[in-house]
Amino acid sequence: MAKRLRIVSPKRNKRLQTGWEGFFPYYAGYPELFARELLKSAKLPHGSVVLDPWNGSGTTTYTATSLGLNSIGIDLNPVMIIVARARLLPPSEADHLRPLAATILSHAHSSPPTLQPNDALLSWFDPATAAFVRGIEQNIRRSLVGSMTKSPDGVHLDRISGTAATLYVALFAACRRLVAPFRSSNPTWLRAPKADDTRIAAAKAALARDFGNNVRGMTAALVAKRDADQSVKKLPHPGDCKVSLSDTVAMEIAADSVDFVLTSPPYCTRIDYTAATRIELAVLAPLLKTAERALGRQMIGSTQVPTRDIAVDEAWGETCVRFLAALKAHPSKASGGYYYRTHLDYFDKMHRSMQRLALSLKPGGRAVLVVQDSYYKDIHNDLPKIITEIGAGQGLTLAQSKSFHLRSMSDVNPGRKTYVRPSGATESVLCLTK
Ligand SMILES: C[S@@+](CC[C@H](N)C(=O)[O-])C[C@H]1O[C@@H](n2cnc3c(N)ncnc32)[C@H](O)[C@@H]1O
Repeated sequence: MAKRLRIVSPKRNKRLQTGWEGFFPYYAGYPELFARELLKSAKLPHGSVVLDPWNGSGTTTYTATSLGLNSIGIDLNPVMIIVARARLLPPSEADHLRPLAATILSHAHSSPPTLQPNDALLSWFDPATAAFVRGIEQNIRRSLVGSMTKSPDGVHLDRISGTAATLYVALFAACRRLVAPFRSSNPTWLRAPKADDTRIAAAKAALARDFGNNVRGMTAALVAKRDADQSVKKLPHPGDCKVSLSDTVAMEIAADSVDFVLTSPPYCTRIDYTAATRIELAVLAPLLKTAERALGRQMIGSTQVPTRDIAVDEAWGETCVRFLAALKAHPSKASGGYYYRTHLDYFDKMHRSMQRLALSLKPGGRAVLVVQDSYYKDIHNDLPKIITEIGAGQGLTLAQSKSFHLRSMSDVNPGRKTYVRPSGATESVLCLTK
């Protein structure tokens, strides 16, 4: 009999996001403590493979690696690949960061780049600010992104070094602070500037200071982690980790090769996962292949109407089929059109991803999914139950689960309060066994 897993709250908590962790905030992430307790309690043997098909900021890959387990993290957003790779930077690299950042800044000051007229940064910043940000980015790229990482139409982000990724994360944070006027209280959304919006102007010195401070903070956090690791008697060898940019709908992982899955699938609340990272995508634009720049439609949970026709599939389970029928029949505007079609897209992609996930698991392997329910108007979208039923269709049995009450993402948007429904959401931790 498999050991019962220890499940602590997967709710994000500012108090738990300090030190090295604090540099990788992600509204959609779960805390490291949750992943750590769970993976430790799974008592996986040395050499086991842990997969997170929706890896986001890389909480699973970071935690698995630090416990000496091998891991694979997949995400479709290039920004999250960079973030997850930075998070894996070994503390032994801490001493290199500040001298590198100083050289990069000095080059950015002395030889500013000629900005392309279509540079994505110009949508946000005035030309001088955009040129300085691009100068820092270009110098990170030139000094740290080697030829092995490059391809004719972009960069293999999954091969970028942890040091380069860390400096990109420091630049992301500086840019995020600058674009704060485009942010609302909704953490999932950064408004794209309109043509007549005033572009942001920042003094070079202030931007350089902010970037430098971020690197200093990251260095200090890594050093503290190194000291803490050394005080622990027996250090496990960090595991191998592969973080890759791909779509779970088409992910290629060998059958029966994964021991454990720990993940939180994209929400079904029409969240555009690229919208929150618009500024980071603008910073990364020169590294991205053309297809990687227009990810919105490919994302699970996309707010864009699918281009192909999708039919309801019985394999999505009876709860899903019933939910979709109620949504389609809802009298409110666009329920039977736009909303029905975007939900069909969500469940079609989720079902295909779950098929791949189940196939990749070894017999006896376990998959832990953190899933939130929600409401479409007044109709309950019991996503934990739907995912459980989709899993059952793929030979995965629910062995353990635990639920937590949360303030939900939709509570953040007061415009959605017109329908009668309970406040908050239930987050369920589902443990499925193959
Ligand atoms: C709920 S978040 C995961 C957060 C993660 N557990 C953490 O701690 O940061 C879901 C992730 O799924 C990714 N995603 C959405 N559609 C995807 C797809 N088709 N293939 C791969 N990743 C996708 C999003 O970019 C997002 O980072």
